[in-house]
Amino acid sequence: MQFEWKKEYNVNIRTIDLGHQKVFELFEDLLNKYNLGSDNSYIENILNRISAQVYDVFNVEEKLFYQYGYPQSHQHKIIHEEFKIRIVMLKLMASKNYLILNNKIFNQLKDWWLNHLLGEDKRFADFAAKRELEVTPN
Ligand SMILES: [Fe+2]
Ligand SMILES: [Fe+2]
Repeated sequence: MQFEWKKEYNVNIRTIDLGHQKVFELFEDLLNKYNLGSDNSYIENILNRISAQVYDVFNVEEKLFYQYGYPQSHQHKIIHEEFKIRIVMLKLMASKNYLILNNKIFNQLKDWWLNHLLGEDKRFADFAAKRELEVTPN
């Protein structure tokens, strides 16, 4: 299982962690479909579900940036936009039957997510946790 979820990927904000886990499950599905040699309509279908899930978890995060007054919100959103463009490209290629998935693409997708989860997302979660401590009286 290449996209197996591990505890250390959690940023400890439940809605975000659940959203990330679903993204990983869908990538695993995509990988399985690819390994089975499934036809393009299956691949397109999963890509659409991945796309919806990615937009969803990015929206959850971005709403929280606003709620917590996160100062790095702008840079973080730009990184989300860059990933959305990747997904749009994959979908476009699949719709034209040009998409050739391979292990390199799966490795890149996984690297991107791990990097983002453990980097920017964790930074935001730490910021939010500090804010919570500030506003919670002891
Ligand atoms: Fe995220
Ligand atoms: Fe993020």
